Amino acid sequence: MNNLLKGKRGIIFGALDSNSIAWKVAQQCHAQGAIFTLTNAPVAMRLGAINQLALECNAQIIPADVTINADMENLIDKSMEILGGKIDFILHSVGMSLNIRKGKAYNELDYEFMKKTFDISSISLHRLLQTCMKKDAINEWGSVVALTYIAAQRVFPDYNEMADAKSLLESVARSFGYHYGKAKKVRVNTISQSPTKTTAGSGVKGFDGFVDYAHAMSPLGNANAEDCANYCVTLFSDLTKMVTMQNLFHDGGFSYTGVSQEVMEIFVKK
Ligand SMILES: NC(=O)c1ccc[n+]([C@@H]2O[C@H](COP(=O)([O-])OP(=O)(O)OC[C@H]3O[C@@H](n4cnc5c(N)ncnc54)[C@H](O)[C@@H]3O)[C@@H](O)[C@H]2O)c1
Repeated sequence: MNNLLKGKRGIIFGALDSNSIAWKVAQQCHAQGAIFTLTNAPVAMRLGAINQLALECNAQIIPADVTINADMENLIDKSMEILGGKIDFILHSVGMSLNIRKGKAYNELDYEFMKKTFDISSISLHRLLQTCMKKDAINEWGSVVALTYIAAQRVFPDYNEMADAKSLLESVARSFGYHYGKAKKVRVNTISQSPTKTTAGSGVKGFDGFVDYAHAMSPLGNANAEDCANYCVTLFSDLTKMVTMQNLFHDGGFSYTGVSQEVMEIFVKK
């Protein structure tokens, strides 16, 4: 299917380098006929890779730190100005844990770091939606998607405080999905993605183990970043207009598999 997003205007957060899930989403949205702005934290701009993506997708970049109200306001205003109207879709692909970065264990967290983690990874979705609502910046039936991970429901010990951040993120999507749906028919969902090799992902201790375990457990194997981009496009399109307030697992079946043959074989006594 082509041109699923023709005529749609979007904002894509979180493309840091070509491994980023948001990078693939931007490429796929471009291929499907959308126009959009790209945004990331001002410090991420210094790495420069996002300029390459902007050129490829004919998109403008608007720096914004998701923890700063004024940045969020500026991003929404400028995006509408550049794109020539209200927004139809937004990808929130933002996450960062200071405690993980500093190597702090879950039972030795620094609470100032933890607040920052929640501000960046979870409250930012609320800030984004509240700013959009205040400015009436999203068209009816518009679609907002945030990326999450199954550690919000089940324990993966080294995912640390990000598990709590993702629970909060999913809750914000559900709660705001109600309010924005009632007010303006705007949809809000989270996609719970398989472990994927990116900068954020690789920060988690034992990440390669996560990836291989999930792959062995999932009947279809792990979903990669390109698969995730395709799924995002369906959620931005009009084909899914009655889907809202959901946490949607995009994980090759991992979330509903008790155990797979491959994993059983490790434990079966020969
Ligand atoms: N990689 C995985 O295994 C995986 C699995 C499930 C969900 N996710 C989620 O997908 C999303 C994207 O992560 P990714 O794996 O593509 O890694 P990534 O590192 O490429 O993306 C994370 C992005 O967050 C941005 N960011 C951090 N602090 C910010 C701030 N203050 N303001 C604005 N932007 C900020 C970073 O610059 C970066 O672009 C995250 O929410 C992540 O938790 C990732």
